[in-house]
Amino acid sequence: MTLDEFSTLVRQARTHRLYVNAATVSRDAVIKLIDVARNVPSGLNVQPLRYRIVTDAAECAAVYACTNWAGGLRTGPAPTPEQRPNAWIVIVSVPTQISPAVDVGIAAQTINLAAAVAGYVTCMLGAIDRDKIHLLLKLPADTKIELLMSVGKAGEKVSLEDFGPGVQMPYWRTPDQVHHVAKRKLADVLIG
Ligand SMILES: Cc1cc2nc3c(=O)[nH]c(=O)nc-3n(C[C@H](O)[C@H](O)[C@H](O)COP(=O)(O)O)c2cc1C
Repeated sequence: MTLDEFSTLVRQARTHRLYVNAATVSRDAVIKLIDVARNVPSGLNVQPLRYRIVTDAAECAAVYACTNWAGGLRTGPAPTPEQRPNAWIVIVSVPTQISPAVDVGIAAQTINLAAAVAGYVTCMLGAIDRDKIHLLLKLPADTKIELLMSVGKAGEKVSLEDFGPGVQMPYWRTPDQVHHVAKRKLADVLIG
C-alpha cells in the first residue's frame, strides 16, 4: 500500500450515522475487526481493553436507545429503524495503573479503518448512557465502558471537505441528504 492509498483510506473512513439495517453484519465479521485491533500499541503494553460485540436484534435496539447521534441530531432526523446499525462494539477497560484513554482512541480508529477495508462504516459514540448499557449487557462489574461503536453498511453519503471561508461548521447536512464534514487545512494544524 502506498502513502497516497493509505491517505485515501483515512479520508474515506468517515463517521456514518445512517445504515442499511437490512444488510446484516455477522458476529464473525465484527470479530475480524477486533482481531485487527488487538495488535495495536498500548501504554506499558498493559492492553486494558475488552470488546463486547452486539449483533442480536433485540440487544441492538436496546443499545441504540442509549445513544445520542450527532450531538442532538443537528445534522438531520434520527435514523429510522431501517437506518439503524445492526452491529455494535462496546469498548470497555479493565482496571489498570494508567489511563486507557489513548489506547481506546488507537483501537477505535483501527477498527474504523479495518471496517472501511471490509466494506463497512462506523460511528464512535461517547455520548451514551454507560450505566444503562452496562446493566443491559450484564458487563463484568470491574469493567468501565470507554466507547461505543456502531458498525454497518453505509446508508448515507458523506463528503469530506476543508474548512475555508464558506465552510466553518464541523459538520452539516445539505437538502440532498449528503452529510458534510470539514477538517482543518494542513497549514492550520502545523505550528512553529
Ligand atoms: C471520542 C469520540 C466520541 C464521539 N461521540 C459521538 C457521539 O456520541 N455521537 C455522534 O453522533 N458522534 C460521535 N462521534 C463522532 C464525531 O462526531 C465525528 O468523528 C466527527 O463529526 C467528525 O467526523 P468524521 O469521523 O467523519 O471525521 C464521536 C467521535 C469521537 C472520536
